[in-house]
Amino acid sequence: MTTVRALTFHDAAALATVRLEALENHGRFFTADIDAERGRTRADWEAAATETTGAAMFGAFRDGKLVAIAGVKPLPDDPAIAYWHSDYVRDGARGGAVIGFLCRTREAWCRDHGYDEARFTIRKGNVVAEAYYTWRGAVVIGEEPRRFADGQTAAARWYRLPVLLAQKRQKTLG
Ligand SMILES: CC(C)(COP(=O)(O)OP(=O)(O)OC[C@H]1O[C@@H](n2cnc3c(N)ncnc32)[C@H](O)[C@@H]1OP(=O)(O)O)[C@@H](O)C(=O)NCCC(=O)NCCS
Repeated sequence: MTTVRALTFHDAAALATVRLEALENHGRFFTADIDAERGRTRADWEAAATETTGAAMFGAFRDGKLVAIAGVKPLPDDPAIAYWHSDYVRDGARGGAVIGFLCRTREAWCRDHGYDEARFTIRKGNVVAEAYYTWRGAVVIGEEPRRFADGQTAAARWYRLPVLLAQKRQKTLG
């Protein structure tokens, strides 16, 4: 059984493990500074796992184990818009309903917190993410070069997702 909830500071160690695994094994998909994140303290991870105004990190759990994460925080350029980040499903949990469950929970949270639109980036050529988020209703609104955690600078496409529309496009939880 899969359960999804907002993380709390109690989940700091599990978040650190899963996030660093994502950056180390799949760094080409994330616009992040891997060395900076490796250098985070316990307090930093506790802060990253703690819900604050306009920001939260969600986790999917199977048998008590964290198998996927997805984050939201205010878009720096426009805090009225939700910036989605850090989406990652661990290898053994892929190909199922986990990412849909996470996205629906995050969308509901966004609506409850006054957001009606989300934005995020996907590295051009990340076909699985492009396929999934396009299916959810996201559209490309721009493209810019960004530095990724694999050390490469590559094209990142900006997507816009109206969270009210996306809520209607649900997949069945398996
Ligand atoms: C992106 C991610 C969260 C999606 O989760 P997932 O469990 O793999 O999702 P799914 O298996 O449902 O696949 C998503 C879609 O991509 C499709 N897909 C899978 N592999 C594919 C491939 N090689 N080529 C094209 N489409 C593919 C699936 O058919 C599915 O489409 P559908 O919903 O129409 O059936 C996950 O793959 C992941 O963590 N990737 C690495 C990190 C990452 O890219 N994060 C996103 C950064 S923006």
